[in-house]
Amino acid sequence: MQLKDKTIIITGASSGIGAAAAMLFAQEGANLVLGARRRAELTTLADQITQSSGQAVALAGDVQEEDYNAALVKLAVEQFGSLNGAFNNAGTMGEMGPIPAMNTENWRSVLEVNLTSAFFAAKHQIPAMKTTGGGALVFTSSFVGHTIGFPGMGAYAAAKAGLVGLTQVLAAEHGPEGIRANALLPGGTKTAMAGDDPEFHEFVKGLHALKRMAEPKEIAQAAAFLLSDHASFVTGTAFLADGGNSINKT
Ligand SMILES: NC(=O)c1ccc[n+]([C@@H]2O[C@H](COP(=O)([O-])OP(=O)(O)OC[C@H]3O[C@@H](n4cnc5c(N)ncnc54)[C@H](OP(=O)(O)O)[C@@H]3O)[C@@H](O)[C@H]2O)c1
Repeated sequence: MQLKDKTIIITGASSGIGAAAAMLFAQEGANLVLGARRRAELTTLADQITQSSGQAVALAGDVQEEDYNAALVKLAVEQFGSLNGAFNNAGTMGEMGPIPAMNTENWRSVLEVNLTSAFFAAKHQIPAMKTTGGGALVFTSSFVGHTIGFPGMGAYAAAKAGLVGLTQVLAAEHGPEGIRANALLPGGTKTAMAGDDPEFHEFVKGLHALKRMAEPKEIAQAAAFLLSDHASFVTGTAFLADGGNSINKT
C-alpha cells in the first residue's frame, strides 16, 4: 500500500486518468478528495470506493475558480485531518486550430483550466501541506508542448509547457519545507480527451516507441509513484510516462 493513510486531492476525477487514479490510489490506501464539474460521476465513484472499504469524498466545482481549489483543501483537512498530496490533473484541450484563427476566448479558457488552476491549487495546497511537515504535488502536463509541436494545439501546448516551469519553481521554493513537486507527462492515453476516431488513434499510436496508446491506469500508476514515499528524492521533474513518444523518430 504505497499511499497508506495519505490524504490526496485528485482533480479531473470524473473520468479518464483521474478516475483511474481514484480507483488505484484508494486500493493503495489513500484517503481521497475527488474534484471535477460533473457531480453525478464524482458521487458514483466516491460511493464505489467507499463500498470497497476505501475512503473518498467528492466536491463538484470548476478548477478555474480559486474558491473551489481552496474548498477542496478545506474538505481534505476537515474530513481527514491533513493534506499530504495532490494530483492536479483536470485539463481540457479546448478548440483546435491554427493560432491566427484561434479566438482569444479559447486561448484564455485553455490557459485558465490547464495552467491558472495549477496556480490556485498550489497556492492553497502548499500552506496545508506545510502544517503537516511536507507533501507531494503532481501536475498533469503532456507530451504535447514538451517535445512535440502538434499543429492546432497552440493554447494547450503553451499551458502544458507552463506547468513544467511552474513545477520547477514550486520544487525549488518549497523543497526546504519537505514539499516535492513534479509534472507528469503522459503520452497518448485512451480517454475521452483522445476521442474515439480509429484513424486518429492509429496516428497517435505511431508516435510512440511502444506503438500503442496508454491505458488510463498506466498513467495513474506513475502518479501514484510520484505521490508516494518511493519517490522521496524525486522533485522538479518533467516525469515522462509517454511510451517513448519523446525519443521516437520512427
Ligand atoms: N488523454 C491523453 O492522451 C492525454 C495526454 C497527455 C495529457 N493528458 C492530460 O491528462 C489529464 C486528464 O485528461 P484525460 O485524458 O483523463 O481526459 P478526460 O477524461 O477528458 O478528463 C478530463 C478531466 O478534467 C476535468 N475538467 C475539465 N475541465 C474542468 C474544469 N474547468 N473544472 C474541473 N474539472 C475539469 C473533467 O471533468 P468534468 O468535465 O466533470 O469537469 C475530467 O474529469 C488532462 O490534464 C489532460 O490534458 C491527456
